[in-house]
Amino acid sequence: MTEVNVLILAAGKGSRMKSDLPKVLHPVAEKPMLGHVLDTASAFNNVANVVVGHGASLVEEAFADSEINWHLQDQQLGTGHAVKCGTSELEQSLPTLILYGDVPCIPKEELQSLIDIYDGGLALMTTKLDNPTGYGRVIRESSGQVVRIIEEKDADDAEKAVDEINTGIMVVNTHRLNEWLAALSNNNAQGEYYLTDIVEMAVHEKRSVVAHCVADADCVTGVNDRIQQAEMEAYMRAKRVRELMVQGCTVRDPMRLDIRGSVTVGRDVQIDVNVVLNGDVVLGDGVVIGPNCMITDSVISEGTTIEANSIIDASHVGKQAAIGPFARIRPGTQLSDETKVGNFVETKNASVGKGSKINHLSYVGDAELGERVNVGAGTITCNYDGARKHKTTLGNDVFIGSNTSLVAPVTLGDKATTGAGSTISADVDADTLAVTRAKVRTVKDWPRPKK
Ligand code: UD1
Ligand code: MG
Repeated sequence: MTEVNVLILAAGKGSRMKSDLPKVLHPVAEKPMLGHVLDTASAFNNVANVVVGHGASLVEEAFADSEINWHLQDQQLGTGHAVKCGTSELEQSLPTLILYGDVPCIPKEELQSLIDIYDGGLALMTTKLDNPTGYGRVIRESSGQVVRIIEEKDADDAEKAVDEINTGIMVVNTHRLNEWLAALSNNNAQGEYYLTDIVEMAVHEKRSVVAHCVADADCVTGVNDRIQQAEMEAYMRAKRVRELMVQGCTVRDPMRLDIRGSVTVGRDVQIDVNVVLNGDVVLGDGVVIGPNCMITDSVISEGTTIEANSIIDASHVGKQAAIGPFARIRPGTQLSDETKVGNFVETKNASVGKGSKINHLSYVGDAELGERVNVGAGTITCNYDGARKHKTTLGNDVFIGSNTSLVAPVTLGDKATTGAGSTISADVDADTLAVTRAKVRTVKDWPRPKK
């Protein structure tokens, strides 16, 4: 990708959000809007210049880990003034790409097209809207050459009838930009320094002024209120779901899959309705996800089935495993290949060896299970003494009878067995049966109590 300076405007108040949070920190697809813009911009420069104003310290804090040149615009005197506040670190020999922090879905490819048509003066990103009200209109002469941008509030009726609008995104000659900004005035309907006035200046200097009109208007429009935020969320969701389908994933109902992070899919993955994929999720070839599942920051390897109503968080599931229905796989769970975790089972910080099964109604936390272990229904690892967590270790081929309490720290050797209902509070050797069950006492002809 071509290197350009990146300058992002993010000082505006966002009054229509009616929020204490600065607008650019409002999330779309689980990430602040400015985060999306920074990610996209990073393709063109490692370091972005960001102009902040309202809630500046909150915004800077939110991106403390990123390499950003922050510029403060104390008072919001208009887009031209904002850009002026952000020019100090621009590399003069490179053109500058100006972006808005509240236009989160801008595609890299459209920015590249804009950079490609830039020819030493000014390249504007425009689009056509059925209802252009509120936007700056792109005024062209009969030859089609762009001559200026007129803001809604300064426009006459003929100008208002123009349906091609300025998105605000542009690539500009950095050296000329400084000169043009110095010449801006605020003599207009809003008393603001309009960045858009530099178009006329460039035309006047006979610099190349070109426009790239983006066909998909939805990706270049900004977020001003919570309705547009929800629309942007839907736009991004639909786009990501389409990408998955292009990669060979069957999505039972594209409207009912919610992708809130980045998802990588193999071939022939199937996803049923009402599934939420959060953060970084990897789904291997042939993975099947049933309805109502939520998967966060996890890897599900090939051939594995996640049945309905299961939750998987920060975990790794091997190949050909079967999870759910109603399983809850909590952070730090490592399920090897061919494992089975059935209904109403909760796991946490547990590693489960190949072919092991925890089929029903169990809690397995802070545990290490070998291969081919069978955990009976109702088994609990008693991992917490009220102060500390302790570990349960089960060797290969261990068989845990139903309703066993494994009082950690405890270790059971290979092929150890526990009897149903046992409370195991001491280690059990390999090939050994441990039972802590009271003997059955029978009372013949027992008379039941009567009222
Ligand atoms: C601007 C454009 C208009 C375009 C529209 C697209 C100008 C004069 N007008 O209008 O042609 O159609 O965007 O949405 O440029 N900002 C600052 N500091 C300021 C003012 C704005 O950082 O002093 C930032 C805002 O946070 C926002 C962006 O610049 O991200 C645009 O500002 P906004 O006030 O929304 O401009 P519009 O009047 O909508
Ligand atoms: Mg605006």
